[in-house]
Amino acid sequence: GIVLVTPAAGFVGWLWVDSDRGNAGNLSFRNALKIPPLLDPTVDSDGRKRFRLELGEAYTEFLPGTRTATWGANGPYLGPTLRARRGQRVAVDVRNRLPEQTTVHWHGMHLPAEMDGGPHNPIGVGATWQPYWTINQPAATLWYHPHLHEVTAQHVYRGVAGLFIVDDPDADALPLPKRYGVDDVPLIVQDKKIKDDGTLDTSRMNFGGLAITGLLGDKIVVNGTYDPHFRVTTELVRLRLLNAANARIFHFGFADDREFTLIASDSGLSQVPQPMERIMLSPGERAEIVVRFRPGDDVILKSFPAPLGANFAYARLAGGGDEHDVIRFLAADALRPSAALPAALGAPPAAPRPSGEPFRLEMGDFTFNGQTMDMQRLDRVVASESVERWEIINNQAIPHNFHVHGASFHVLDIDGEPPPGHLRGVKDTVYVAPNSTMNLAVSFLPHSDPEFPYMFHCHLLAHEDAGMMGQFVTVSEADRALVRQAVTTHQ
Ligand code: C2O
Ligand code: CU
Ligand code: CU
Repeated sequence: GIVLVTPAAGFVGWLWVDSDRGNAGNLSFRNALKIPPLLDPTVDSDGRKRFRLELGEAYTEFLPGTRTATWGANGPYLGPTLRARRGQRVAVDVRNRLPEQTTVHWHGMHLPAEMDGGPHNPIGVGATWQPYWTINQPAATLWYHPHLHEVTAQHVYRGVAGLFIVDDPDADALPLPKRYGVDDVPLIVQDKKIKDDGTLDTSRMNFGGLAITGLLGDKIVVNGTYDPHFRVTTELVRLRLLNAANARIFHFGFADDREFTLIASDSGLSQVPQPMERIMLSPGERAEIVVRFRPGDDVILKSFPAPLGANFAYARLAGGGDEHDVIRFLAADALRPSAALPAALGAPPAAPRPSGEPFRLEMGDFTFNGQTMDMQRLDRVVASESVERWEIINNQAIPHNFHVHGASFHVLDIDGEPPPGHLRGVKDTVYVAPNSTMNLAVSFLPHSDPEFPYMFHCHLLAHEDAGMMGQFVTVSEADRALVRQAVTTHQ
């Protein structure tokens, strides 16, 4: 129902609070986890690895006996996993057989802005978009999803999303679990609201004026599987966790509080493996963790109540309803031995030093620095391959997060303190807690066509759609002054 809120920091307002009792203890884990198939590329006449994605409408049975209208790529819900190696030239034919125009963005990919699939790359109904690029970044778990301005939340929620795994020789040489779907398992985690008739409840997707973080659902799906289990056959299992939810912040951990090891964050492997018991991921963030199982183990991966402020209405007002079972792991009576994890994983030890004037971004009610997204406005011009300090300020009582295209970053500090261990890796998306400030060292790509800006935005999709997004271009030193002048004139 409607609740009057007067929490800290001066925020007063009406919130819609859904009854979120969580699902902990309610599931039977009857469904085997679906593993998104690896998409086989062809080799085209230019020698590129060519992938084909066809976006379309279909039905999915999430809940037994019900049909839910969904969207997917090459299938009814979500899409296949694309996989390519550093140095490879790739191309994708993205055919849009949806009833609306959309885009497909390669989240975390280092590629020219005109191939990025942001709001400036719409794919018309029936059209095929053909981006191509050279993979030029370390091994990482990336993903793809629509990014059409103002409807991203709808398009992702209906089901267009998938993984893009980048491999490289350094990562290959490490003794990490790497048999896809066996001991190297993707977990695309989302929450859904499904009505009794099976349709997706999208009524508060973009607030309806009341909800504050966007849509939070009470049904957790993993790789599009509701109520899932996974059969473990090896001592170590690597989980590639992706929070592909619209708004929900997951706080992952095992029911028995067993330790796991963080080996990679958004943009690739960590410097050293890091033991943890919980990891929080906001929408868009990824983490690769390695978990040790004993023969016969039966353990549930959960999302525990997020720290205060995350899943705002829930954590604060619904009193602990924010606890969900995610997936049950059932280990065989005999497990194949796994190699011990290496002591070092190869990421460089320190963040690159930013130079030049820092860029200050203050988050507001779905604004940055008081402005909503304008497709015609550039908010920043950065020099080719520069490293800049970006200061992200959330003075609000609600959570946000921050994602940059065409770049990766290190977290330098949060409220003046060094970041916790799990935020020391290379990232492209990060949670920004209520009333906090963080400094990032953002490493940008070589310059590309300034006609196609890159985006930065809050990845709570309702916030992004409401205009909490800005644009920048990456230009050569020579062009920088010119573009600056153009930007000033335009404003
Ligand atoms: Cu995951 Cu701008 O996107
Ligand atoms: Cu992105
Ligand atoms: Cu936000």
